[in-house]
Amino acid sequence: MNPKLIKKGQTALITGAGSGLGFAFAKILSEIGLNLILVSKNSAKLNHVQKELENYHNGIIIFPCDFSDENDVKKLVEYIQAQNIEIDFLINNAGVGIYKEFTSINEIEINKMISINLLAPTLLTRYILEKMSNNNSGIILNISSTMALRPSPKWSVYAAEKSYLSLLSRSLYYENKNKNILISVLYAGKINTDFDRNAGFQSHKTGKNPDAIVRYTLKKLNKYHSIIIPGAKAKIIYFCFKMLPDFITKRFLRYLT
Ligand SMILES: NC(=O)c1ccc[n+]([C@@H]2O[C@H](COP(=O)([O-])OP(=O)(O)OC[C@H]3O[C@@H](n4cnc5c(N)ncnc54)[C@H](OP(=O)(O)O)[C@@H]3O)[C@@H](O)[C@H]2O)c1
Repeated sequence: MNPKLIKKGQTALITGAGSGLGFAFAKILSEIGLNLILVSKNSAKLNHVQKELENYHNGIIIFPCDFSDENDVKKLVEYIQAQNIEIDFLINNAGVGIYKEFTSINEIEINKMISINLLAPTLLTRYILEKMSNNNSGIILNISSTMALRPSPKWSVYAAEKSYLSLLSRSLYYENKNKNILISVLYAGKINTDFDRNAGFQSHKTGKNPDAIVRYTLKKLNKYHSIIIPGAKAKIIYFCFKMLPDFITKRFLRYLT
């Protein structure tokens, strides 16, 4: 049997660690004993997370970073280089959505979403994967969504961006298959965080608990899974939209969204 991938003493960089799923990753990885670099836009939230997690563990660095500004991504990379930090586990989690008709989204909003959801994870992966390749070890987890798999009216830009992130993950997985590096993608369904509200979407459905999603994901990563799909509904969506022709899946679309 393969040894566990995620171990005490490793260093994880988590983006979007100030709240929601990113905070759940930070909490559970600090319980396991990983050193953490926590990145998020809101420095007050990051300070709060650092204080809360210091009860478990001291190796926590916080780095406020606004991914809508490409210079902030560069500053983060320069910081990692200057401090000579080896990242064992990168979690590209920061993400924003907009729930609106496509023609109502303005240019500023589109640029911002592209910077946060596409450019930042691509540039971070580019830099950190090169380091991991030199060391011949590492894990990169990209947080995608079941929306990446199916048409998602009023979520068009977000769904397309998650689709990009998924395909980037799958391509890099095969590109690095013969190295000791795992590149994995999480297709999450609805999670109980502020995401929908921040995106301007009012939902009456309750999502899954973020801690449960994180524990499930870490279990699958420890088994070297490169595609992670938590929950029966997400698995059905994955199966339907990957395997079945469009004329069948479109009949079920409203039950699956
Ligand atoms: N919730 C769901 O139903 C769901 C489903 C599928 C996939 N996802 C994905 O899961 C990931 C985490 O989302 P969540 O549910 O935890 O939502 P969330 O609570 O809204 O968290 C989003 C995170 O992204 C960070 N962020 C936003 N704008 C940023 C910027 N300009 N620069 C740097 N960081 C920024 C936020 O930081 P601050 O708090 O500091 O602003 C926050 O930590 C996202 O990629 C999302 O697409 C969510």
